[in-house]
Amino acid sequence: MQNIKKYIDQHKDRFLDELTELLKIPSISADSAYKNDVLKTADHIKASLEKAGCENVEICETKGYPIVYGDKIIDKNLPTVLVYGHYDVQPPDPINLWNSPPFEPVIKKTELHPEGAIFARGACDDKGQMYMHVKAMELMTQTNQLPCNVKFMIEGEEEVGSSSLSDFVKENHEKLSNDVILISDTGMIAPDVPSITTGLRGLSYVEVEITGPNRDLHSGLYGGAVANPINVLTKMIASLHDENNHITIPGFYDKVEELSKEERAEMAKAPFSLDNYKKALDIDAVYGEAGYSTNERNSIRPTLDVNGIWGGYTGEGAKTVIASQAFAKISMRLVPNQDWKEITELFKKHFESIAPEGVKVKVTPHHGGQGYVTPIDSVGYQAASKAYADTFGKTPIPQRSGGSIPIVSLFEQELKSKTILMGFGLDSDAIHSPNEHFGVWNYLKGIETIPYFYHYFTELNK
Ligand code: BES
Ligand code: MN
Ligand code: MN
Repeated sequence: MQNIKKYIDQHKDRFLDELTELLKIPSISADSAYKNDVLKTADHIKASLEKAGCENVEICETKGYPIVYGDKIIDKNLPTVLVYGHYDVQPPDPINLWNSPPFEPVIKKTELHPEGAIFARGACDDKGQMYMHVKAMELMTQTNQLPCNVKFMIEGEEEVGSSSLSDFVKENHEKLSNDVILISDTGMIAPDVPSITTGLRGLSYVEVEITGPNRDLHSGLYGGAVANPINVLTKMIASLHDENNHITIPGFYDKVEELSKEERAEMAKAPFSLDNYKKALDIDAVYGEAGYSTNERNSIRPTLDVNGIWGGYTGEGAKTVIASQAFAKISMRLVPNQDWKEITELFKKHFESIAPEGVKVKVTPHHGGQGYVTPIDSVGYQAASKAYADTFGKTPIPQRSGGSIPIVSLFEQELKSKTILMGFGLDSDAIHSPNEHFGVWNYLKGIETIPYFYHYFTELNK
């Protein structure tokens, strides 16, 4: 491949300026107050795909936020790469913990990003990573080295469950037909330890509600004589793990695939420092399921976590009250073979069964999705591996991630193709947290590596 580094060098300031403009639009899909901004972002993506050399660029309307599609078909006999990404972002709150406003991007140096990182909501997840593909497309068309066909599909509802995209994929098999799906929406181990994500966890997200007496009560007059919904809820939640931090829901582990000793030994080879891990989070010990390492706990093992809990009086001072209701939001991260709908049912049945007399329980499922694992002997993986070897000077390590992109298993089911997860973010980039950022080096390295993927994928398919 020619002139890739040179092109990036000549255009890198503009590449950063363009990303900055994109990051200024608060495309928060979860909050309807930002509807116009989300729609504006879709228009912005459409224009940037056109500028990068895509044809047939269109805004595909859905029941929710639109999907931006664009393609460049150079020869029907050549392979087709389908690029997926998302232009929506997580809400930025708690806003007071940001060192600079979330939608006013700034570049600052950090210990892990000595060349600077761009700080803004969506910088890494996923605007920055998605935009690497747009710029790689520009680079390939401008330098006449696009070796195969490309399709782009960029959605605006990933952070809220991708429901419109599921329908879109089911209804557009022909339009979206491809030989491989390419996504940058995950991470890598470190700048000097490139890795390719080979697994994602599934997800089941539920909300629970405990109702006791029909109104809030004086905690002196009624305390001790009626079930307190907050006491009950916390006790029920506490019982969902045993003393080894195993999840106690009957049947929860039935389909969990146990990795062989060899596979676990292979995983353990990935460089990891427990000390640095603890230091970065300012904790004096890690915590989790007995019998598994930290990296196993956050990738190949399923989990159950409370994401939010509320009820009763939380204002200033003290109010003596027994609340009528208590609530919690609970997520379960699942591993391949666990079916998210089945797990949601198991949770519901169990949670309802452990409620004591004197309260009512309501379990409301939110969204969910299946996990995913991809083999490392596929043409797509091999092409990605060669691409990293060229640009990082090292063969990348396969790594299963703990995060979820539920739509990936649907892609496989509907479009019958494998997904390659070329993530360039770091775990410390604070996605979904205050001060999210994406390394300038990582951004440019991504733009550099992607064209090599196209090159090798086309070569290996000959
Ligand atoms: N890009 C993330 C998922 C991710 C991040 C996977 C890093 C692996 C490494 C994605 O945008 C995300 O946040 N997914 C949600 C699930 C979704 C249904 C809201 C998640 O994992 O919580
Ligand atoms: Mn994402
Ligand atoms: Mn996300």
